[in-house]
Amino acid sequence: MSVAVIVVAAGSGERLGAGVPKAFASLASWTVLDHALVRVPPGAEVVVVAPSSHLDEARRIVSLHAELAGRSSAVAVTGGATRQQSVAAGLAVLSDEVDVVLVHDAARPLTPIEVFDRVIDAVRSTGGGVIPVMPVTDTVKRVAGDAVVETVDRSQLAAVQTPQGFPRADLVAAYVGAGDDHTDDAALFAAAGHSVTTVVGNERAFKVTTPEDLHRAAQLLGPDWTITGGRGGVGYDVHAYDPAQPLRLGGLDWPGEPGLAGHSDGDAILHAIVDALLSAAGLGDIGSTFGTDRPEFAGAASTVFLAHALDLVGTEGWAVVNVAVQVVGERPKIGPRRAELEQRLSELVGAPVSVSATTSDRLGFTGEKGLAAIATALLAASA
Ligand code: CTP
Ligand code: MG
Repeated sequence: MSVAVIVVAAGSGERLGAGVPKAFASLASWTVLDHALVRVPPGAEVVVVAPSSHLDEARRIVSLHAELAGRSSAVAVTGGATRQQSVAAGLAVLSDEVDVVLVHDAARPLTPIEVFDRVIDAVRSTGGGVIPVMPVTDTVKRVAGDAVVETVDRSQLAAVQTPQGFPRADLVAAYVGAGDDHTDDAALFAAAGHSVTTVVGNERAFKVTTPEDLHRAAQLLGPDWTITGGRGGVGYDVHAYDPAQPLRLGGLDWPGEPGLAGHSDGDAILHAIVDALLSAAGLGDIGSTFGTDRPEFAGAASTVFLAHALDLVGTEGWAVVNVAVQVVGERPKIGPRRAELEQRLSELVGAPVSVSATTSDRLGFTGEKGLAAIATALLAASA
């Protein structure tokens, strides 16, 4: 039995007016949809419902986050004219083993994972529908045009967020019999005669509707460092080509490209980044930190070195401002996958990583025998 999260992202985002559908608007070097997906529990199946104009981009984002989370099942499908139709399109493609479904707005990109966990637990324990809610803090009035009719008792009101969770079979049946006029999934579910209870939501699960909301989200995601006393560092790594190995570079697989020789996976980009981070923090280098006297790191994946280096740097009171990498070699060609590579590395480092590439005009080692990577890192004191 398993959980699926349907992330509805097929709206046009009229009120945001970003020129692209809201889920694909830019937010802190990513899209709104990226931020929503990175906070979905890794054990859940994911179905993203996207506008047909952005289905390919949705597929690319979905597979990136499936890889980052180690998620086994993640797909994107086309949505409908209303949110309800979009949810129905997502329900239609769930895999057989799913027994609990969460429906989540991509437009709530900062919803923390703990809200998902709370909703899932409550669906399992109650067997009914579950919605995350927040107390209403503003005074609420019933009005008619300009006239105030009455003050509403706000202690009886709650503001509703997503993800909303349901037993799959009951939700599917409720959708089959539903009219097209429900304001949310819980209303549709309740109209079919099922019970719905609440759990505590989270301030960060607010919905991005207007440009001000997007600005607030960007500020909440903003860098948590101050730029007094920054430090730069540099790192360099080379590995010889070994066509018998698969290529792992920058934390990505490169099918059809010659691999790199080396203990561990030979990922020259990640090794150069690790050295740049350690160098900036004054913590020595990859050899002195993960050397032969540390058997626990023998043959470890480069992502393990990177995670450990970031941990060391953070423990010393540093935050990463940015990392820049240059790859020198004939293969692989970086350009076609630069965006994906930058996204993957930024996710691994937790700060913006830019990647450039050059050949050495077929001269010297990087002209034929192998590949080099040079990285710089800028650290700032953690706030
Ligand atoms: N949604 C959807 N399919 C639709 C309409 C909305 O999947 N036909 C999704 C949106 O992408 C969003 C969520 O439902 O994640 C909540 O809708 P809303 O915030 O209203 O988003 P939009 O409809 O895109 O925005 P607007 O109403 O300003 O156009
Ligand atoms: Mg809408």
